[in-house]
Amino acid sequence: MRTPTVLAGMALAALLSTPAMAERDQAENALEYRQGVFNAMAWSFGPMAAMVKNKMPYDAALFTKHAERVAFLAHLPLEGFIPDSRVGDTTAKQDVWDNADDFKAKMETMIEESARLATISKGGDLDAIRPQFGAVGNSCKSCHDDYRTE
Ligand code: HEC
Repeated sequence: MRTPTVLAGMALAALLSTPAMAERDQAENALEYRQGVFNAMAWSFGPMAAMVKNKMPYDAALFTKHAERVAFLAHLPLEGFIPDSRVGDTTAKQDVWDNADDFKAKMETMIEESARLATISKGGDLDAIRPQFGAVGNSCKSCHDDYRTE
């Protein structure tokens, strides 16, 4: 009957002995998570940009699919900017954490503009879509200008 107690004790010891390592892993996980989300957004941006610039035939259903993905994904990256996660190959400036309210406000702008784009895209009118696609692109750029090192 003693074995479970011993095992539990060992597991507890393992947990307690590596707090620094566990934190490091969480920061790396957060970095990968937010970069993954941003890359997924960029993936959907590609075909939309090509259609807006007439480099690819306009396909209303395809455009809406990507607009809806970006609108959904826009909610996700903020969660990945956990404290002390300016690690690894990040391009995030320290200002992300120092000016957290402004950073969050810029995320909100992206969320609103991308939701609007998804709605407008359902109308199937590329001329109406174009300026709203521009507004979403500006919401990305205005944050990158302030909060990315490159
Ligand atoms: C509120 C700020 C903010 C907004 C809005 C924003 N980004 Fe970013 N983005 C960042 C930051 C900060 C990083 C750097 C993340 C890191 O490396 O830790 C980043 C990184 C990226 C990266 C590089 C990911 C990598 O693997 O290094 C891509 C691609 C990207 N963003 C695309 C977009 C697109 C597309 C939009 C708009 C639809 C957007 N971002 C909107 C702040 C933002």
